[in-house]
Amino acid sequence: MQKINAAITAVGGYVPEYKLTNAELEKMVDTNDEWIQTRTGISERRILKEEGKGSSDLAVPAVLELCKKRGISPEEIDCLICATVTPDMVFPATANIICDKIGAVNSFGFDVMAACSGFLYALTTGSAFIESGRYKKVVVVGVDKMSSIVDYSDRTTCIIFGDGAGAVLLEGTEENVGIKDSLLKSDGSGSKFLHMKAGGSVKPSTVETVLAKEHFVFQEGQSVFKFAVKGMADVSYELMERNKLTADDIAWLVPHQANLRIIDATANRMGLPKEKIMINIQKYGNTTAATLPLCLWEWEKKLNKGDNIILAAFGGGFTWGATWVKWGYDS
Ligand code: UT7
Repeated sequence: MQKINAAITAVGGYVPEYKLTNAELEKMVDTNDEWIQTRTGISERRILKEEGKGSSDLAVPAVLELCKKRGISPEEIDCLICATVTPDMVFPATANIICDKIGAVNSFGFDVMAACSGFLYALTTGSAFIESGRYKKVVVVGVDKMSSIVDYSDRTTCIIFGDGAGAVLLEGTEENVGIKDSLLKSDGSGSKFLHMKAGGSVKPSTVETVLAKEHFVFQEGQSVFKFAVKGMADVSYELMERNKLTADDIAWLVPHQANLRIIDATANRMGLPKEKIMINIQKYGNTTAATLPLCLWEWEKKLNKGDNIILAAFGGGFTWGATWVKWGYDS
């Protein structure tokens, strides 16, 4: 029997309308546009302002767009995997809530929590479901409403993050396209550099934890930066080497959008010119699990069947990884 490959057959994305600019941040904390642009590459980010809306509300339009493009009904989805660190609630899984909201009544769903690498972890899991032959249509969503866990009085973190969602549909094919290889890594000893202090089982929420601002992102930026530069570049290079891919073979690098300097370091190590790198950090900031699918969503029209694409990420956990995708269709 011919091997079943898991191909991406449609992409959807969504960002909320509200733009939080560097100029506006200058009024909130002691920062300035020049520092933010030179240290991170970010000019503005999108924020979901409406009360009572969460990550599922960002994901729903992304998944519905994908269904519309592919001409399928949500009832045809077999499984939906949602990568997020900002679930609607601690439980149940946001994937289930998304399925309910879009009418994906025949789908099971679960969440993957791997921070900025979440989309790659979920994509790799979803592709294995397709390759097994057991499921025909798997949706992988990367979504985060980072504004719900960012302290807007902390200048070291509030300038970085934004809200957004991206989603891809995976389907089986016997053609030589799809998710070709994935190299995923994690190191729990890195958790001390990037985490949320309270709200979990070790330190449940109390009045004191709220007053101590322990429900926000805590990040030791410089330490994370050092690990990210090395981790993302190393894993991307290793993935190329083990698949005998040269820079000429690669059409696009889709890097996690955390910091332009980390993106540049990864591209340099892979020997890739600027024209081959998807960068939208200036518009959206770091949307955590959503950065990679949001890039695919924005660049979809430029992608051609057979294009070799490397997706790479590094984030909290630490988690990191790279995935080689051979694009499945001409837009
Ligand atoms: O996606 C998840 C993974 N996360 C990442 O990959 C993020 C990795 N880290 C980074 O991107 C960078 O470390 C940051 C963007 C977070 C910070 O940039 P940095 O170049 O590492 O700055 P720094 O923390 O070394 O701070 C340099 C200076 C400090 O001042 P002093 O001590 O030199 O006087 C900071 O207090 O910049 C100051 N600073 C700021 N100044 C203006 C820190 N934040 C700001 C700010 N505006 N927003």
